[in-house]
Amino acid sequence: MKQSAAALPAIDESELVARVASLSLELKVRLLTGADFWSLHPEPAVGLRRLVVSDGPAGVRGERWDERDPSANVPSPTALAATWDEELVEELGGVLASEARRKGIDVVLAPTVNLHRTPRAGRHFECFSEDPLLTARIGVSYVRGLQDGGVGATVKHFIANDSETERMTLDARVGERALRELYLAPFEAIVREAGVWSVMASYNGVNGEAMTESSLLRDILHRELGFDGVVMSDWFATRSTEASARAALDLVMPGPVGPWGDSLVALVRAGNVDPATVDDKVLRILRLAARVGALDETTPASPPVYDDAGISAALRRIAAAGFVLASNDRDLLPLDPSAVRRIAVIGPNAGAARTLGGGSATVFPPYTVSPLEGLRVALEPGAEVLHGVGVHSSSRVPLAGPEWLHVPGTDEPGVEVRFLDADGTVLASEHRHGCAFTWLGSLDHDGTIARIEVNAVLRATDAGTYTVGASGLGRYRMSVGDEIAFDERLELRPGADVVEGLMVPPQATHDVELAAGEEIGILLAHEVGPLPDVPGSVGVNFQLNLAPPYRGDDQEIERAVAAAVAADVVVLVVGTTEEVESEGFDRASLSLPGRQDELVRRVAAANPNTIAVVNAGAPVLMPWAHDVAAVLIAWFPGQEFGNALADVLLGAAEPGGRLPTTWPATESGLPSTRPVDGVLRYDEGLSIGYRSRERDTLFPFGHGLGFSSWAYESIDAPRHATPGAVVRVSVGVRNTGPRRSREVVQVYASRPESAIERPVRWLVGFAAVVADPEQLATATIIVPPRAFEHWSVGDGSWVLEPGTFDLAAGASSAVLPMSTRITVA
Ligand code: BGC
Repeated sequence: MKQSAAALPAIDESELVARVASLSLELKVRLLTGADFWSLHPEPAVGLRRLVVSDGPAGVRGERWDERDPSANVPSPTALAATWDEELVEELGGVLASEARRKGIDVVLAPTVNLHRTPRAGRHFECFSEDPLLTARIGVSYVRGLQDGGVGATVKHFIANDSETERMTLDARVGERALRELYLAPFEAIVREAGVWSVMASYNGVNGEAMTESSLLRDILHRELGFDGVVMSDWFATRSTEASARAALDLVMPGPVGPWGDSLVALVRAGNVDPATVDDKVLRILRLAARVGALDETTPASPPVYDDAGISAALRRIAAAGFVLASNDRDLLPLDPSAVRRIAVIGPNAGAARTLGGGSATVFPPYTVSPLEGLRVALEPGAEVLHGVGVHSSSRVPLAGPEWLHVPGTDEPGVEVRFLDADGTVLASEHRHGCAFTWLGSLDHDGTIARIEVNAVLRATDAGTYTVGASGLGRYRMSVGDEIAFDERLELRPGADVVEGLMVPPQATHDVELAAGEEIGILLAHEVGPLPDVPGSVGVNFQLNLAPPYRGDDQEIERAVAAAVAADVVVLVVGTTEEVESEGFDRASLSLPGRQDELVRRVAAANPNTIAVVNAGAPVLMPWAHDVAAVLIAWFPGQEFGNALADVLLGAAEPGGRLPTTWPATESGLPSTRPVDGVLRYDEGLSIGYRSRERDTLFPFGHGLGFSSWAYESIDAPRHATPGAVVRVSVGVRNTGPRRSREVVQVYASRPESAIERPVRWLVGFAAVVADPEQLATATIIVPPRAFEHWSVGDGSWVLEPGTFDLAAGASSAVLPMSTRITVA
């Protein structure tokens, strides 16, 4: 059930200014650094309560980062952009607003609108698209959905934070045209059209200036775009006092320690920083507080209210709307449920769905539905489902699952966690179901905690070798039964990002042979240390890991092939792992990890009705793409993965997605993510993705099939347009297939005879239509004036090269059957 949102409150600016003026310099400056990891200082003297922020793009995490406070896990940003559906994404923003309020969050640290400069980028899954217009349209909708519910959005990371390698320090050298026409464009649209309430300044520098100190903050955000919200730093990104304070950075995160504080007070007193600059920062924070209802006498707009069933239903629909059917030979899909007698659902991601990518965007969902579970529920009772993992895709020992562990002395599934002081006195204990333990900033318990112990009994379900382990940074000691399994200090790889240490920290492991039903005690002890660079605060992050006996890839591949031979149809779910797609590091390769390519080839050779489902947030190479009957790209689709997949495979829903990014055939020619001497050159300029002339493409930008077919019959656009005017393009399309369907009609411009450098083509607008078989529908595409302009470096402004542009319409950037010309002058 969903109830709709209320309207926004009015804010009295003069009242805000008066409240700022009433504070001393010390109290003002105190408000400009976070109070802790996720919140801002309250200030009762001006009626300000504690304001809480939280990541992120795939769900609203909340202040606690573990299974005890689960979050609705929504489809990841690439999946959302793949919908090409602004209304749906706005609805999703409402779901997130409702989640934020449920969890006491005022400002969500999303959306991420950096571009897919290259699929090698670790956070690709967390950004929408390689195209600035599509990113802008989806980003505006996301922000509107959130903020109409009274919850702040934070558009991030400003700017040119398009890869992870050396992200804290790299200097991105970006040409002015690429900066304006590509990377800034989504931020511009989101500030202007959605009136976003906060922006996050990135870690990196651009053209020689660190972004937390950059003149671009004031020159572009304040002066050009009239942004009236808060610019906050990315976490630990502020590394100076004066330069960052003089820039239009308003809030240093996290706190309570940071480079501003007393040092900034002293700089203001010494006349080095203008007091009016400080006042402006405080005013912006109070304005944000008023908008989200963190200031006395302000009432924020209220979000739509969803119950659990309402959230599940919305996430199921949205996930299916983002699935991209990339190929469907012999119209194998949709399957007729009554004809499926025996189906093999195999692959490393079939039974253990990957619903999200790694990093700060990670949330703990209340449940996830794997492809195997979703199909089992949806298939008719007589259908037989065969299953096998095929191969292991990860070289890491996974997080321990509660099915093998129970609390010592009880039958309760899970583990006991104890908090001890330096003398070994137990100060507190808790019973946990999850085995990932994260406390950032502070622990939940008072007292000086020196050690955390995890205590559990492992019960073997099958006979064989169990691998137990710990992953994290710092010192870990594990005993298994009476044996010391290891006592080691685990260190971050030299040069690695701190988030790599959170997501894929080093592991220590130990093998133990157990008979079926045998039990053995496990005790893992971790010494708690301070967070590097943050005196007095803790950063605890470790996992208990456990892998049950495994036959090995050779045997599993043989089992998968045997299942494929026995089945009428195969759903083979392959994908990436947390070692591949995460914040904190870029991808070493675009190939599927482990022996998955071999698995697909063997299975496809065994059964011609093989459907490959790709569970990845970013492109992977598919050397076998033409060997399988169908390829369905499912992204990281959120907690409803399996249900949405069953809907699409069995025809209850049409796969709605179109690729928001080019799917390359090989890695050749892709922009690099590796800085050289601290500098990352965006030498490809305007030529990213489909805009590039030389790209070895498997599936083009904009591509995606529904369950019907379409004929493009007409295109109609004015022959002339005046500069600055909106242009309406009408495209007539007929549904020539067997069922009601949705088509995303895309319009691209090109200018082969231009006097200036141009991309091959660029998207200028899109519109979706829905039609019944044989019905003709007209898509009306609104092309904004900016689509015909380019950034003039000489003039420092947007200009039009008057003349004729080619406009082409079709179903992807590579299939454009209709074209016309327009003269803009
Ligand atoms: C990420 C941000 C995130 C922040 C807080 C940083 O590492 O780059 O996107 O919002 O952490 O979790």
